[in-house]
Amino acid sequence: MMWVRRIARLTVAAMLFVVLAIQLVRPARTNPPTDPSAVLSARVEVPAGVKALLDRSCRDCHSNDTRWPWYSNVAPVSWWVIDHVNHGRSHFNFSEWAKYNSEEQRKLLKQSCELTRKGAMPLPSYLRMHAAALTAEDIQALCKWAPRTIDQTTVD
Ligand code: HEC
Repeated sequence: MMWVRRIARLTVAAMLFVVLAIQLVRPARTNPPTDPSAVLSARVEVPAGVKALLDRSCRDCHSNDTRWPWYSNVAPVSWWVIDHVNHGRSHFNFSEWAKYNSEEQRKLLKQSCELTRKGAMPLPSYLRMHAAALTAEDIQALCKWAPRTIDQTTVD
């Protein structure tokens, strides 16, 4: 049964070729420069506990300071990770807080509490690879801080 072995060998070679070839498709992993006067904590008061949870559980997808994991170098996982970061930033980037108008800011603050409470944020897939789950106290701190900050964000 020589041909069976030959087909098996060819199949393995073809699979290896595909795995290597897709590594050539490398979408950019960016950490855009940040204007320190435009970040969330420069514009509104963020208590230490909230700052810590944003940093631990949200920053990788919602700021310009993403800590890229090693597997963000390996296709096809890299495509998926980079897409999450770009998509997350496009919805909510706390490094660029000043670019939102007050209505958008109020909405983002409201949603930060709501989505977190529902367990929709951080994305469940993120939690599989990061020790970033929020505790009940974290959610409480976030949901106490958000409405207070909404009240201080007057609609212009
Ligand atoms: C792994 C990446 C990732 C992490 C970590 C993450 N998010 Fe998100 N977030 C996203 C993506 C992607 C979207 C866009 C969701 C969509 O369109 O369904 C989003 C959307 C949002 C939105 C909605 C913005 C809008 O305009 O609808 C808010 C608010 C938000 N995230 C808050 C948070 C908070 C707070 C945390 C941390 C507790 C967090 N996210 C952690 C990826 C992430």
